[in-house]
Amino acid sequence: MTLAQLTIRNLELQDLDEVVELQASCFPPPFPAELLWQSAHLARHLEIFPAGQWVAVESSRLIASSTTLIIGDDLWHAHADWETTVGGHELSRHDPSGTTLYGVDISVHPKHRGQGVGRALFEARIQTARGLGLTRFGTACRLPGLADWHQRTGAPASQYVEEVLRGGLADSTLTPLLRWGLKPVGILDRYMEDEESRNSACLLELVL
Ligand SMILES: CC(C)(COP(=O)(O)OP(=O)(O)OC[C@H]1O[C@@H](n2cnc3c(N)ncnc32)[C@H](O)[C@@H]1OP(=O)(O)O)[C@@H](O)C(=O)NCCC(=O)NCCS
Repeated sequence: MTLAQLTIRNLELQDLDEVVELQASCFPPPFPAELLWQSAHLARHLEIFPAGQWVAVESSRLIASSTTLIIGDDLWHAHADWETTVGGHELSRHDPSGTTLYGVDISVHPKHRGQGVGRALFEARIQTARGLGLTRFGTACRLPGLADWHQRTGAPASQYVEEVLRGGLADSTLTPLLRWGLKPVGILDRYMEDEESRNSACLLELVL
């Protein structure tokens, strides 16, 4: 695949089953299956914020997707957990008058990773955020290499993130998000149930 063959477009109702399938490939166990989107959740995202949902399509096959909502400044600065920040699977905290485009998930099929598909979706997010006059893109990034590393070192998540930032370690999720230009803001110790990340996440932002 070359990026010239890739189409980035907004999610449509006809895509929902493929996105559900994609999620299962992108978040295999031990990630909790009950945290993944089902069609009814995705349909709700389309109702509340269609401009914030994207897919990447190559040769008529859906190979990646991305979900966002808008949140207010107070909620962003609260550094709260997933449920509080986004309002659960239906993204009930979506606030069209907010300041921050918040990335809830970005999923590239394992066969298509490391080829710039994630970056292309990220750029669509940033373009949309700028077009809407928002002042920040923010997200809380999983740290899927953390649990194994912690078992070997006993050291905290903050040290893990410092090592990844320094380039001494690569994390399959944090490293690409840093390469896209996102900057770390802090560590969330109890973000969501995520064994590989020890339930932690790294809060990242790009000020627009
Ligand atoms: C995180 C994810 C979205 C990245 O998407 P991607 O399309 O593979 O990323 P890109 O190709 O845009 O990569 C950006 C950069 O990171 C690098 N990179 C990608 N994966 C990497 C890895 N596992 N280790 C080290 N570097 C990596 C790329 O080489 C690229 O480098 P460059 O800036 O020199 O070109 C994808 O790996 C994924 O779907 N992961 C599983 C789901 C997940 O955890 N999502 C995020 C949390 S919701």
